[in-house]
Amino acid sequence: MKVLVTGFAGQLGYDVAQELAARGISCIAADKGEFDLTNTESVRGFVGACRPDVIVHCAAYTAVDKAEEDSAACYKVNVNGTQNLCSTAKEMQAKFVYISTDYVFDGEKSEPYEVDDVTGPQTVYGSTKLEGENRVRHTCPKHFIIRTAWVFGKNGNNFVKTMLRLGKERETLNVVCDQFGSPTYTKDLARLICDMIQTDKYGTYHATNEGFCSWADFAFEIMRKAGLSTKVVPISSSEYPAKAKRPMNSRLSKQKLVDNGFTPLPDWQDALERYIKETE
Ligand SMILES: NC(=O)c1ccc[n+]([C@@H]2O[C@H](COP(=O)([O-])OP(=O)(O)OC[C@H]3O[C@@H](n4cnc5c(N)ncnc54)[C@H](OP(=O)(O)O)[C@@H]3O)[C@@H](O)[C@H]2O)c1
Repeated sequence: MKVLVTGFAGQLGYDVAQELAARGISCIAADKGEFDLTNTESVRGFVGACRPDVIVHCAAYTAVDKAEEDSAACYKVNVNGTQNLCSTAKEMQAKFVYISTDYVFDGEKSEPYEVDDVTGPQTVYGSTKLEGENRVRHTCPKHFIIRTAWVFGKNGNNFVKTMLRLGKERETLNVVCDQFGSPTYTKDLARLICDMIQTDKYGTYHATNEGFCSWADFAFEIMRKAGLSTKVVPISSSEYPAKAKRPMNSRLSKQKLVDNGFTPLPDWQDALERYIKETE
């Protein structure tokens, strides 16, 4: 099996490539240096030359706030870029993995979101990721769409790294306590992706680490596990305005993973502990 991974310079793409290598699966890891997703000819040329059996599409425009003011650039990458890649996958009869997000939902539900729940993105980023999902569904029959949330990985910027940096600089930190979700370690998600691509159990899935918390709970646990004494002060979302509206509820039900025989990801506290040890 030969796998093409996009977004290698980012968090998830890097760990998917590492996991494939660890399993002895042939992997072509690409980022902007190899080809620009938004350029149809560039995509066709590169992918045509590699002829992968599977494409794991981790590259995306992920700057959620910036996207509110630069929707065209976000659309170009998340919709046109995805279309370019999944059309090529279809031509080559390759399996296609598209990584999506909790931002496709409006965040108003009080329970975890099921895979088939009504979507209602509230941001440019969320709308483009949903449109990307739809393009994949309509273009490439052999697809896995995996919605995840609150991602942290070794390669790239994320909430954990920001908290660890600020924790060393400040005595107190104000962190939002009324938005809930499940942190997700890219290493754990990469394992699941590598399990999935070896099956033909196509469809849409939710995948995050198990358990859930608020951002303030998450920050508290980061400080505790890193041995930092910084005090985390819980604040409400209204006290922390941002350009893009954040979902209040980002919890995703993983029932479909279990129903299809996939191993759910470990608990988020366990993932965080390993991450802090591995990145020290
Ligand atoms: N981060 C999260 O909390 C989160 C939550 C839910 C879902 N997701 C989804 O999970 C996936 C992986 O996220 P991540 O955090 O690993 O992302 P990331 O670290 O931001 O990496 C994305 C990569 O895509 C590359 N890219 C952007 N535009 C490109 C283009 N035109 N051509 C080729 N490459 C391009 C980026 O390069 P540059 O940096 O040079 O632009 C970057 O290396 C994404 O689909 C994201 O939407 C992420």
